[in-house]
Amino acid sequence: MSEQARVRKAVLPVAGLGTRFLPASKAVAKELLPVLDRPVLQWVVEEALQAGIEEFVFVTSRGKEAIADHFDAHPLLEKTLERKGKQALLQAVRAATIEAGRAIFVRQDAPRGLGHAVLCARAAVGDEPFALLLPDMLMRGQPNCLAGMMQAYAAVGGNIIAVEEVPREEVNKYGVVALEDADAETPRITAMVEKPAVADAPSNLIISGRYILQPRIFTLLERTMPGAGGEIQLTDAMLAALDEGAPFHAYRFGGETFDCGSKLGFLQANVAFGLDDADVGTALATFIRQRLPQR
Ligand code: G1P
Repeated sequence: MSEQARVRKAVLPVAGLGTRFLPASKAVAKELLPVLDRPVLQWVVEEALQAGIEEFVFVTSRGKEAIADHFDAHPLLEKTLERKGKQALLQAVRAATIEAGRAIFVRQDAPRGLGHAVLCARAAVGDEPFALLLPDMLMRGQPNCLAGMMQAYAAVGGNIIAVEEVPREEVNKYGVVALEDADAETPRITAMVEKPAVADAPSNLIISGRYILQPRIFTLLERTMPGAGGEIQLTDAMLAALDEGAPFHAYRFGGETFDCGSKLGFLQANVAFGLDDADVGTALATFIRQRLPQR
């Protein structure tokens, strides 16, 4: 194992307007919509904490103030739950709190793309490697996705990108990678392209929303011109880093991924998490079984 600079910080881009979830997301940040009993974003923050992340940089925007409230301590609520002896709820509320001073909120002024959102985190991250977690992508498995990537990073260093296979006809919705030695444990990435046409995609391996990146990416993002969809694309800056010779390795996550940025993925996540829940799982399974013959 080689010595790598430790990954202490995570960037979470949460500035998006959530247009795919309107009208639900008109007044409530889409990242705060619940999967089972907590916001999607909290599941992702818990993944990062379990992976050893110590500081969070949320790239936010107007109207998303409730995100800061959600991760703040709530003394009045906690006192009330304590007085009523509601220990389990008290624990659940405390688990949603990020320690004082460990969450930084920076604003993105306009929706100019994921690359621009990441660039907004530059001053808060500084000159060290960082994790980037896209909160639309909810991931479940042991070790969790970022924890597995941290292990891969400890072994090979550089930049690590989580990838997964999707049906070929869906690649145009994602960033797509090509690999040098697909059978290796953490294969080298040789090419990346953002939202290619299905016919032009180098593979059906998509960038699935978890990254470990070196701070050089910020300088490259500054130079990145708008790309796919007229937005400043992180994938284009990563490609520029690759062209400079920076190593990029792929990490294949063994668990499940739910794209909660789409209605279907969000509902699937709720069903999957609900079925596995000790309180509601059995009743939910019965309900679904009763409904299915009507389909
Ligand atoms: C972003 C990235 C893309 C990645 C995707 C995963 O796209 O640019 O490379 O595959 O997230 O969800 P977006 O979903 O912001 O269009």
